[in-house]
Amino acid sequence: MKGLIIVGSAKVGSHTTALSQYLRGHFEEHDFDVEIFDLAEQPIHQLDVSGASEPSESYKNNLQTLKTKAREADFFVLGSPNYHGSYSGILKNALDHLTMDDFKMKPVGLIGNSGGIVSSEPLSHLRLIVRSLLGIAVPTQIATHDTDYKKLDDGTYYLANEEFQLRARLFVDQIISFVKNSPYEHLK
Ligand SMILES: Cc1cc2nc3c(=O)[nH]c(=O)nc-3n(C[C@H](O)[C@H](O)[C@H](O)COP(=O)(O)O)c2cc1C
Repeated sequence: MKGLIIVGSAKVGSHTTALSQYLRGHFEEHDFDVEIFDLAEQPIHQLDVSGASEPSESYKNNLQTLKTKAREADFFVLGSPNYHGSYSGILKNALDHLTMDDFKMKPVGLIGNSGGIVSSEPLSHLRLIVRSLLGIAVPTQIATHDTDYKKLDDGTYYLANEEFQLRARLFVDQIISFVKNSPYEHLK
């Protein structure tokens, strides 16, 4: 079973990426193959339905990689920082490049991080988008704050809050349960 975590932060080495890496470790303990597509590291161009713009080769390659991985994924995790009380435009643009065929009846976990007042509102907004894409947003979600993380000597963030470490395990277990026992398989 393959999973794809799409990270929508504008910052390379974000808190959301650190949380994603923590989750990937737990998925791997269950022999699940999970990749992180970090939109800060692999940026894609803005959706242009008219085709008037000319995106660079690297942006086009990144988008093709995202599309291929999304189509192959059995489940998703969508990760976003809190930007102005919602999820990031970067993540929305990535989702606009994808389709219902990528998400139909696949479990989707939602994670986010805020630097100001901690909020799950960005995840509530994402839940609506997942429904439009025909994905199944699982009930457990994770909304952290910058203070839930510490830095390694090289400046890399890691999830340090023990309560969120436990919640991360619950989150992973729940997604795995949805993937393994999907009653929607025949609807895909
Ligand atoms: C454009 C923008 C808007 C933001 N709006 C909010 C906000 O409404 N509420 C909040 O708590 N933090 C807000 N922040 C702060 C981010 O949530 C904070 O930088 C956080 O650490 C981002 O997480 P990340 O490291 O995973 O990207 C905003 C940051 C940016 C760049």
